[in-house]
Amino acid sequence: MAKRIDVNNLNVYYGNFLAVEDISLAIEPRSVTAFIGPSGCGKSTFLRTLNRMHEVIPGARVEGEVLMDGINLYDSGVDPVAVRRHVGMVFQRPNPFPTMSIAENVLAGVKLNNKRMSRGDADDLVEGSLRGANLWDEVKDRLDKPGSSLSGGQQQRLCIARAIAIKPDVLLMDEPCSALDPISTLAIEDLIQELKNDYTIVIVTHNMQQAARVSDRTAFFNIAGTGKPGKLIEMNDTPVMFSTPSEKATEDYISGRFG
Ligand SMILES: Nc1ncnc2c1ncn2[C@@H]1O[C@H](COP(=O)(O)OP(=O)(O)OP(=O)(O)O)[C@@H](O)[C@H]1O
Ligand SMILES: [Mg+2]
Repeated sequence: MAKRIDVNNLNVYYGNFLAVEDISLAIEPRSVTAFIGPSGCGKSTFLRTLNRMHEVIPGARVEGEVLMDGINLYDSGVDPVAVRRHVGMVFQRPNPFPTMSIAENVLAGVKLNNKRMSRGDADDLVEGSLRGANLWDEVKDRLDKPGSSLSGGQQQRLCIARAIAIKPDVLLMDEPCSALDPISTLAIEDLIQELKNDYTIVIVTHNMQQAARVSDRTAFFNIAGTGKPGKLIEMNDTPVMFSTPSEKATEDYISGRFG
């Protein structure tokens, strides 16, 4: 299930703009990796290259390699739709399908993947995924209401339920808790710890305490100035990154002296 990720010399472009430069890193299966760094340094951009969601933007492209268990996602024979089936994603802004019901939203990714399932199995998957995202109790009596009828934090948890319903090998989460209250945030962090047993997880977060709590490894990205590309400054075991980072920029950022 869980897959190993190796990124080799990855450059990420929007047209002629080099947004992220020369990233090389390795992510072990069954681990949680946190991406941290200032706004605009390319965390979301880089994250989207890990399931080929970057290239859906016109003019967007990459150079270099992203290997999952040794297979380059950017090889010509690789189907991007199949990649996204194995690498699930939760976006920075919640994006439920507004006209679909809550239950249909949870199943949306599964249906796209053409899995046939019985009514009973579908109901179980809806309940299990919503429980996993700590949303079940709030919505169990209105599963047929539209996804857009939920609050922002509920919508984000619905998107998490949708992502885990497809049972991906890798789960990418872009600031999944930025719209959540502290209780839901802790529930999502517990969920991440649980999912780590089966999945490879990458989470982008602006919350240093969260990175310290949930991740095994932390990668710090930075940008030299507007128009310059974002770069990976360092990556290490999370306790090391938060106690004795090698780079001064990392220390400044995590201690709040950045900017
Ligand atoms: N669709 C796009 N087209 C062109 N440039 C883009 C696009 N999306 C992002 N960028 C640019 O790429 C750079 C990196 O943006 P990105 O969203 O990856 O940063 P980030 O680290 O996720 O920031 P934040 O912490 O604010 O979410 C920025 O200069 C941004 O303006
Ligand atoms: Mg972002």
